[in-house]
Amino acid sequence: MIRKVTVEEIQKKDEFLATPELTKEELTKAFEECLKQIDLNMEYFKDKFPYSATKQNKYPIIENIEWTDGFWTGMLWLAYEYTKDEKYRELAEKNVDSFLHRVENRIELDHHDLGFLYSLSCVSAYKITGSEKAKRAALLAADKLMERWQEKGEFLQAWGPKDSPEHYRFIIDCMLNIPLLYWASQMTNDPKYKTVAKKHFETSCKYVIRDDASAFHTFYMDPLTGEPSHGATRQGYNDDSSWARGQAWGIYGIPLNIRYTGQTEYIDLYKGMTNYFLNRLPQDNVCYWDLIFNDGSGQSKDSSAAAAAVCGMLEADPFLADNDPDKVVYHKACANILRSLMNNYTSTEHEPGNPILYHGVYSWHSGKGVDEGNIWGDYYYMEAIYRQLKQWNSYW
Ligand code: GLY
Repeated sequence: MIRKVTVEEIQKKDEFLATPELTKEELTKAFEECLKQIDLNMEYFKDKFPYSATKQNKYPIIENIEWTDGFWTGMLWLAYEYTKDEKYRELAEKNVDSFLHRVENRIELDHHDLGFLYSLSCVSAYKITGSEKAKRAALLAADKLMERWQEKGEFLQAWGPKDSPEHYRFIIDCMLNIPLLYWASQMTNDPKYKTVAKKHFETSCKYVIRDDASAFHTFYMDPLTGEPSHGATRQGYNDDSSWARGQAWGIYGIPLNIRYTGQTEYIDLYKGMTNYFLNRLPQDNVCYWDLIFNDGSGQSKDSSAAAAAVCGMLEADPFLADNDPDKVVYHKACANILRSLMNNYTSTEHEPGNPILYHGVYSWHSGKGVDEGNIWGDYYYMEAIYRQLKQWNSYW
């Protein structure tokens, strides 16, 4: 049985409804600014990758070793699909070689972020070009992700050795990793990937989302019994607060799972999470890094959470009934948030190594990427715009 959560009334309904639609000109201009930054960053990164977050608004250059490297390749694929300029495809294909090497040699892959990495770099490549190499890399990544399955408790373990009780937990972010598994079942006709993805999704919906529709970041299971233990944070402000990006991972993750499983009965959970998020936005409608904060807190915004939440609302739209009064509110909230990002969180002055989207937070507790750009913020911002300019065969 699907649990019930609170679905709050959307408080800024009138403000969102009064938002003008984004025009084709606005969207095109914003996407073309993204291309300008990508062109500079291609020269700057060459065949290497940006570090997850900027330092003083410049990306350090790294090898393909982080959980975030797929976002850059995903941006190259979006740029290629928009322009059909071969230069983007050439670099994206070089990246695919690097991703195949990484998975064949199991380089820095002992975690669950295989979906973030391989959906955007290799599933995308396969969908766009039919590359068998990309397909092989993505299927190997799906097999690697399957290794994190814990039968007791029915979840994919996020981090750490599988036999270590202190790591017996999953995190809300994994909602974005499991589309890789659904895709793997479609490609292989082997249901095992989908079975695991669906069970993980159901476990997540049961435990990592609270009754008020906010999300824990992480949730521990009892390693002996597989029974639910407790929620805790790693990147949120505290165990009881709602980390903005975690909330966004839920807002995007639920409709992605609905797309693959047809379980439209989860839409109320989506609505609960989305309304909770929308009701805690500050004046400019770009969230602070934890939803416990608002204007006057002196804390930083997380523009990346805003961009990911917009993508989630766009993904969910076809699953909402036409007579659902919130459907049009979400549509206009997307326009409102995205316009705020375009006008106040991007720049028309570009230098090599800059982000596209400014003012994100990677990890406040460890002081990484606080009030900096991050590469997934750049990616989701582009995806949100692209989706509204073109028909998109989703990479997820
Ligand atoms: N998935 C890790 C993060 O959102 O920072």
